[in-house]
Amino acid sequence: MCGIIGYVGNENATPILLDGLRRLEYRGYDSAGVAVFENDDVKIQRTEGKLSNLELALAESPIKGSFGIGHTRWATHGHPTETNAHPHRSGDIIVVHNGIIENYLELKDLLAADGQVFTSETDTEVICHLIDYHYQLNGKDTLNAIRESITKLKGSFAIVIMNAKERNRLYVAKRGSPLVVGETKDARFVASDIPALLPYTKDMLFLEDGDHAVLSSEGIELFDENGANIEREFQHVPWSPLMAEKGGYKHFMLKEIFEQPKIMQDIFTGRVSGARSTIVLDELKGLFDGNKARFDRISIVACGTSLHAAMIGKHMIESLARVPVSVDYASEFRYREPILDERTLVIPISQSGETADTLAAEKLAKERNCPVMAVCNVVGSSITRIADATLYIYAGPEIGVASTKAFTAQLVVLYIFALYLADKLNKIENDILKERVAELLTLPRLLKQALSLADDVMRIAKDISDASNILYIGRRLNFPVALEGALKLKEISYLHAEGFAAGELKHGPIALIEQGTPVVAVVPQDGTYDKILSNIEEVKARGAYTIAIASDQDESISSKVDEVIAVPKTSKYLTPIVAAIPMQLLAYYVADHKGTDVDQPRNLAKSVTVE
Ligand code: M6R
Repeated sequence: MCGIIGYVGNENATPILLDGLRRLEYRGYDSAGVAVFENDDVKIQRTEGKLSNLELALAESPIKGSFGIGHTRWATHGHPTETNAHPHRSGDIIVVHNGIIENYLELKDLLAADGQVFTSETDTEVICHLIDYHYQLNGKDTLNAIRESITKLKGSFAIVIMNAKERNRLYVAKRGSPLVVGETKDARFVASDIPALLPYTKDMLFLEDGDHAVLSSEGIELFDENGANIEREFQHVPWSPLMAEKGGYKHFMLKEIFEQPKIMQDIFTGRVSGARSTIVLDELKGLFDGNKARFDRISIVACGTSLHAAMIGKHMIESLARVPVSVDYASEFRYREPILDERTLVIPISQSGETADTLAAEKLAKERNCPVMAVCNVVGSSITRIADATLYIYAGPEIGVASTKAFTAQLVVLYIFALYLADKLNKIENDILKERVAELLTLPRLLKQALSLADDVMRIAKDISDASNILYIGRRLNFPVALEGALKLKEISYLHAEGFAAGELKHGPIALIEQGTPVVAVVPQDGTYDKILSNIEEVKARGAYTIAIASDQDESISSKVDEVIAVPKTSKYLTPIVAAIPMQLLAYYVADHKGTDVDQPRNLAKSVTVE
């Protein structure tokens, strides 16, 4: 959601801020703005819509200065208009904000009664007026005005503040929403996410809740929630700026789909040994006493695509390690009074590590003394900082709003974890483990084969792109793949799509089938083969246009469906990972054919940092 960038240095701030905002575009936004100190005052430029509008406005009326702040806004309170866009100003105080201020109406009434005049519908403007109010009251001490103000805010925020009377100085504060700080010899930077800082530094300081800081020409001064001066370690982010660029692909999403074979090696390195047929997860040492797990059951919490990975992970862990696993929507978890104790391993799964609901579920688990193992992509993100241990998925930066490579990376990591746990708990025989490890190492090749089907998938995508409703079906581990296929399609093509457990169709959803309704079925040659073929017959009999994602060794499937996407045959554990590829490609090509904004689909944000 909202992107934040701040710069203090010797260069012209405006292009640096615009470049930072460009690198944060993927987070999703509907208006943008910058504030830059020029000729003894701060000048603000804001526009509705895409960054190009802001660039145009700044080309017509340039602002030049050595420090400033920038923002891309994803509307929560008030329409995506120029007046609601950030930065907001009250007196000398200028603010950009990410998050939601829950008590903003209450504060707004108090401040309005004091004579403050509001010009926008946003919750952010309240922060600005509140700081200004304390600033006037306390004899113009900005830092203390900020400290006083943030204690009065309920909700979540990452804020960057300028004072028009203070040169080369930015103030930052955070609670609940991410902020990362970096520096070079001559400059200081702050941003809401890593990619904005990558061109300047890979060593970053991730602010904790309650932290606030002053960034100036002299350096970075960091304080904790009590106002005490503190030091925190910078973390090295092993990403390059190039990794966060399109690299010749039409869209980030397509690039990320095609990166999948390559990232497998990063996931395996140091963890999966073909030579010794072993799985080593040193990062999980703290969760075991020798070979004994410190938990008897597992509870996974996640949202969206990560939730679908969790559902598949449950199958893998239960079937291999025989440990009971529950899976919850993170947004529901807190509200259903979950049964948790110190023997329940809670696994929050999140690509970004900043999803507000997943973070809240994780915090609940910590309150209940549960051991917590995060599965995450972003080094240093909030979810990893709270967890007792983290299994990184090493997918590299994922910029497309639709999650693709993070999904398959999550599945591979969950599978590795399931094998590791099964081995530790003596639930898998050595020769079976050996077979599984050997097969796992073939995954890059299997994924490459699946990607080679792109042209076939593109043709099918064109055929179905006029449909008004598309159904996806699968069974067992492939039911969540059906859910994921449908999610991918709807989020980027805006076509209505739903995924179902194939056996559930006749309990209601089959009523949706009309002449020509596309039905995409995952049909592996496993114990459910005949069952899913029957489900296909049922929808065909009602006029469905059937597309099977089937094994390339299935010789008879082509006579039973309208289209076959033949993926390499593999075990039941790897099939969902391989089948995910054509699902992603199908969604991508439908969306591209329809001409939607594939990487930044309407209404969506990459990282959902508000509840
Ligand atoms: O960063 P997270 O994995 O926690 O994000 C969870 C969901 O918001 C995310 O997977 C979302 O559903 C994607 N847009 C799916 O493509």
